[in-house]
Amino acid sequence: MNKTVLVTGASQGFGKLIAKKFQNEGWNVIATMRTPEREFELTQLSNVLVKRLDVTNTKTINSAIAEGIAHFGKIDVLVNNAGFGLQGPFLHSSEEMVKKQMDVNVFGVFNVTRSVLPYMQQENNGLIINFSSIAGLVGFPHTAVYNATKYAIEGFTDGLQYELNPLGIRLKLIEPGAFKTGFVSSMDRPEVPDNSIYKKGWDATIAQINAMLGEGQDPQEVADITYLAAIDDTDRLRYLVGDDAKQIMEGRTQMDDEAFKTMLIESFNL
Ligand SMILES: NC(=O)c1ccc[n+]([C@@H]2O[C@H](COP(=O)([O-])OP(=O)(O)OC[C@H]3O[C@@H](n4cnc5c(N)ncnc54)[C@H](OP(=O)(O)O)[C@@H]3O)[C@@H](O)[C@H]2O)c1
Repeated sequence: MNKTVLVTGASQGFGKLIAKKFQNEGWNVIATMRTPEREFELTQLSNVLVKRLDVTNTKTINSAIAEGIAHFGKIDVLVNNAGFGLQGPFLHSSEEMVKKQMDVNVFGVFNVTRSVLPYMQQENNGLIINFSSIAGLVGFPHTAVYNATKYAIEGFTDGLQYELNPLGIRLKLIEPGAFKTGFVSSMDRPEVPDNSIYKKGWDATIAQINAMLGEGQDPQEVADITYLAAIDDTDRLRYLVGDDAKQIMEGRTQMDDEAFKTMLIESFNL
């Protein structure tokens, strides 16, 4: 029997490539997204079921999971990929913006995980792959809230292993650097007034982030590593993806806090 993966945020970016990668490897795929009526590619593929799922809406989560299981029999792997970036000075980010960022990137992962667990527990088998980021390991300028969401995912995934491993359920983290997806155009950015003390630094950060992500690496690498993580039976938890992420982590482990901070300030032209 084919294995089945459920992917969140499969409308574009990593999520769509992950859905196609698993399908191409012979898996059944429950490709979930907020607006399935706009999807015309995945719907053409065999063994792909496209379903509506908004990670902030429990009703859509429960029905996508139930319909996926009714169709394919089970869910072997959950890929919690859906997410977006809030980027900008915290002082200019409204409570509503911050809450939305936490709701999607953190509570969204909690929500989908909570709903899929009873099925995996019943099978005494399952794998949950959560999307973190290099931003889940290192803080970046004007990225504090996004950093907080990905640090939360790191902690959640790391800690949850001890509760779920005894139930036959394993966890893994994907930690990409900057890859070319819809991430930049989907970003939420607060207005930064001209008289803000952050104006100069924020303009420099935008230029840096747009350059890093705009010229970003090929996202297929992330989809391929996600697949490798899914078939990796070892207890390896973290998969750092991208030369940039590896270079940053090397610096982070070699430098002390002060030297690393100075290096980032200089490289962001703050
Ligand atoms: N690209 C990078 O460089 C990078 C680096 C590190 C980590 N990441 C992480 O990788 C993941 C995927 O991002 P991406 O780069 O592929 O960006 P993307 O192209 O913007 O795709 C993001 C996906 O998340 C979905 N999404 C957003 N809010 C949602 C919600 N409430 N419910 C369900 N789906 C929702 C989007 O759906 P809609 O089409 O409906 O908006 C879209 O399918 C995110 O968790 C991101 O934080 C990205």
